[in-house]
Amino acid sequence: MASSQASAFGLKDPSLIKFQGLIDGKWVDAKDGAKIVVKNPASNQELGTVPEMGLAETEEAIAAAAKAFPAWSTTTAKERHDILMKMYALMQQHHDDLGRLITLENGKTLTEGKGENTYSSSFIEWYAEEAIRTYGEQIPSAFKNVRNIVIKQPVGVVSIMTPWNFPSAMITRKLGAALAAGCTTVIKPPPETPFSALALAELASRAGVPDGVINVVTTEKNVAAVGKQMCESPIVKKVTFTGSTPVAKLLAGMAASTLKKVSLEAGGNAPFIVFDDANIDEAVAAAIVCKFRGSGQTCVCANWIYVHSTVYAEFASRLAEKVAAFKIGDGLDESTTHGPLIHSRATEKVTRHIEDAVSKGAQVLVGGKVVENTNFFQPTVLSDVPSDALINDEETFGPLAALVKFDTEDEVIKLANATEVGLAGYFFSRDIGRAWRVAEKLEVGMVAVNTGLISQAVIPFGGVKESGLGREGGPHGIDEYMNEKLIVFGGL
Ligand code: SIN
Repeated sequence: MASSQASAFGLKDPSLIKFQGLIDGKWVDAKDGAKIVVKNPASNQELGTVPEMGLAETEEAIAAAAKAFPAWSTTTAKERHDILMKMYALMQQHHDDLGRLITLENGKTLTEGKGENTYSSSFIEWYAEEAIRTYGEQIPSAFKNVRNIVIKQPVGVVSIMTPWNFPSAMITRKLGAALAAGCTTVIKPPPETPFSALALAELASRAGVPDGVINVVTTEKNVAAVGKQMCESPIVKKVTFTGSTPVAKLLAGMAASTLKKVSLEAGGNAPFIVFDDANIDEAVAAAIVCKFRGSGQTCVCANWIYVHSTVYAEFASRLAEKVAAFKIGDGLDESTTHGPLIHSRATEKVTRHIEDAVSKGAQVLVGGKVVENTNFFQPTVLSDVPSDALINDEETFGPLAALVKFDTEDEVIKLANATEVGLAGYFFSRDIGRAWRVAEKLEVGMVAVNTGLISQAVIPFGGVKESGLGREGGPHGIDEYMNEKLIVFGGL
C-alpha cells in the first residue's frame, strides 16, 4: 500500500517518500494510529498521509535525541563535516525528486521547487564547512600565572519547528547548524508539507547520521501540546522556529520557563522603496522577484511598494503589464509561472486585504480575484493604497503588490518604519549618499540595495523588533547552537 502510494508521487526514487514519523531511527506511526491527510494545493487532492502524533511520541523523540547526544556531540568536527557533505551530495543527486516533492506539497513551480532544493542543500554544505571552524579563543589574563581559554560546545537537544512556505530550506537552515555543532534534534514539520522533512531525514540517515540524532514528529491537531512539550521539556536546550510573530511570542514564553536559548524568525512587513533616481527596469524586475516569489508567500516578500511620485505612473504601469503576463497553474506544468496558495485560508486573507484596500480608495490595476473553489489567486497590483489599509498591520502572505506614492526620503523612511516588525527592507537608488542613509535608517535586520533577492546560506538571516531573535546562516549562525565555556588555568 505504502509503496503504491509512494509511486503516485512520480519520483525516480520512491523510497524517499515516508508515510511515518521518525523516532530513534525507526519509522513509526502514531500510537493511536491517527493520521493527517496531506493535500496537493494545486488540485486539493490527497497526496498521502502521515501520523498525527502527540505528547507521548514527542517525549519519546526528545528522549531519543537525548540518548544520541553523548555519542554525536563527541564525534570530531571533521566526522560531522564529512557526513554533512555526504548529505549535501545526496541532495544534489536527488535534486529532481526533492524539487518535485516540494512542488507537490507546497504548490510552488517546479523551477522554484528545484531552486529551493539548491538553496536548502546550500545550508548543509555551508554548515558542513562551518563545523570545522568553531574556533575558541585565548584571552590574555588580568592575573599573573593564569590563562583564559574559551571553547565552544554543542548546546544539546534542539527543537526545530518550521513553516510550509519553504518545506525543505527552513529545515536545513536549522538542522545543518545543529548537526554541525554536535547537537541532536527533534523536528516538527508543518502538517501541510511533511514529506520534504521526512525525505531529508531519510537522506541524512543514508549519509550516516546515526539513529536518534534526527527525530521527526508529525502533528496537526495536537500541535499545541507537541509545541509546548518541545519548548518546555527540561531535556531540550534550544528552540528554533520560523513562522508567525504571534506563535513566536508564544513559544518564547514557553521556552522562558527553563531559560532555553531561542532563535525565532518571525513575520516581516517588508518595504520596497523606489526612489526617483532608480533604474526603473531593474526596480520592476526586482519587485517581481521580491513580491511574487512563492506566489508572495515568503517572510521577506515586499508587503508595501513605495514609489516616488515622479516615477510612480511609469513604475505602476510597467509592473502591472508584467504581472498581467503571469500564468498561474499547477507547478508541475512547465508553462506555469506562479503556483497556488497553500490553502483556502490563505486566499481568504488576500481577498480580505484587497476588499479592505479597495473600500478605502485603492484601485486594482491587475488581478484581484481568487479562482473560485481553488487555491489559485490572480497575481494582483493595487495602486494608491491608503496607509490605514489592513495591509499595514498584517503581512498579506500572498500575490498582492500594494503601491503607495511618496515625495520625500524622510516621509518614506517614516512610512517604512511604522510597523512593529522589521525583517527585510529593499530600496532602489543610484545615489551613494542616499544608499548609506536609507540603509542605516531602515529598522530591519536585512537591507537590500538595488536588488530584490537577499536569501543565501552565507548571510546572517534574521530580523529586529518583533521579527525575531537570533541569526541563521552566515559566519555566526552555528554559534546559536553552541555554548561558550570559559576555562581558567591557574597555578602556572
Ligand atoms: C521565509 O520566508 O521565512 C524565508 C525566506 C528566505 O529564506 O528567503
